Amino acid sequence: MRLSDCHNIDDFRLLAKARLPWPVFDYIDGAADDELTKSRNTAAYADCDLVPEVLAGVDEIDTSVTVMGRKSALPLILSPTALQRVFHWQGERAVARAAEKFGLWCGISSLATVSVEEVAALTSGPKMFQLYVHKDKGLNSSMIQRCKDAKFDAIALTVDTIVGGKRERCLRSGFASPPQFTVASLLSYAMRPRWALDYVFREKFRMPMLDGYVGAGTKQAMSIQSYFTEMLDQSMDWNDAARIREEWGGTFCLKGVMSVADAKRAVEIGADAIMVSNHGGRQLDGSRAPFDALPEIVDAVGGQIEIICDGGVRRGTHVLKALASGATAASGGRLYLYALAAAGQPGVDRAVGLLKEEIVRDMKLMGAKTVGDLTRDKLRWR
Ligand code: FNR
Ligand code: LAC
Repeated sequence: MRLSDCHNIDDFRLLAKARLPWPVFDYIDGAADDELTKSRNTAAYADCDLVPEVLAGVDEIDTSVTVMGRKSALPLILSPTALQRVFHWQGERAVARAAEKFGLWCGISSLATVSVEEVAALTSGPKMFQLYVHKDKGLNSSMIQRCKDAKFDAIALTVDTIVGGKRERCLRSGFASPPQFTVASLLSYAMRPRWALDYVFREKFRMPMLDGYVGAGTKQAMSIQSYFTEMLDQSMDWNDAARIREEWGGTFCLKGVMSVADAKRAVEIGADAIMVSNHGGRQLDGSRAPFDALPEIVDAVGGQIEIICDGGVRRGTHVLKALASGATAASGGRLYLYALAAAGQPGVDRAVGLLKEEIVRDMKLMGAKTVGDLTRDKLRWR
């Protein structure tokens, strides 16, 4: 299978599976417990149908939206994901370049393998930093200050990882940050020489946002599940979120909101946006899919706060359904991560390009000249 054989996100998943050591692939592809929520995140989109309108004269359409104060060429955000240089040596650099090329937001994780300073230097596109609140308060302030200095456009505070989800594939493979070549997995790494040579001989693994504060996850290998449980501040509450928003002083998003009550709290503390998200099913298995939760959250706080529907997106129609249901934009991680892992920058460019083509094609077939034409009356739940 080659890059040119990839015509949708699932094709990229297959190519990534063929090119990655299985512990690394399973870290991306895997989720918590029985992975029911991960599956539902995508399946939810199949439970509702689009009702197209015709003869709308769609030779010229506008797919852009403004989200968190910045224009985005598509109603799609590349969600923050950790450890990207473990998946492919180009890592966050490739994703940030692709985001800029297509005029999209990109998200940089607290557990990124490239610094916010470097990302800011290589792209002028909209950039969000995803903050994990650590027990080390000095680290939290350091990351916020660095985002100010690097002129990032928004901070997304992730609120659904107060403890690590049970990542059973990683428990079986021993996947850790940084990756450990255990007896069980050594063969899998040896059987992927391109990945192994890149990982061993190119730039050394590091998580530059943690430099000087935390050795876990870099100097001491640790599973992500354990990292969350041991390193993050489990006492974090709404007062802390409000204080972090004040400390940042810029555009502020809460990532991982799933209830109407929490969406209303987000409005109360002055958040600019929420990402309705269950972390791609990687945290609380059995929790509801963002697309299923979207209507009641939109009915409750729509117009008071921007609402991003995160997770399970694999098609342009998924993006259109989320918008018709009232989301400001859709977002996703695996939709570009499989492609990054499989083929670096060319992979991400191709994957985002395919999604852009699907969004344009699907909007035209819907008779939608702008994203504002995607309204709830154009959806029918089965
Ligand atoms: C993630 N996600 C994530 N979220 C976050 O707030 N900080 C992070 O560091 C990461 N890291 C991460 C790594 C990997 C490998 C994956 C797959 C996901 C979650 C991510 O931002 C997003 O919420 C989900 O990926 C959405 O689900 P889909 O689009 O992958 O189905
Ligand atoms: C994960 C963390 C890093 O989902 O957010 O793996």
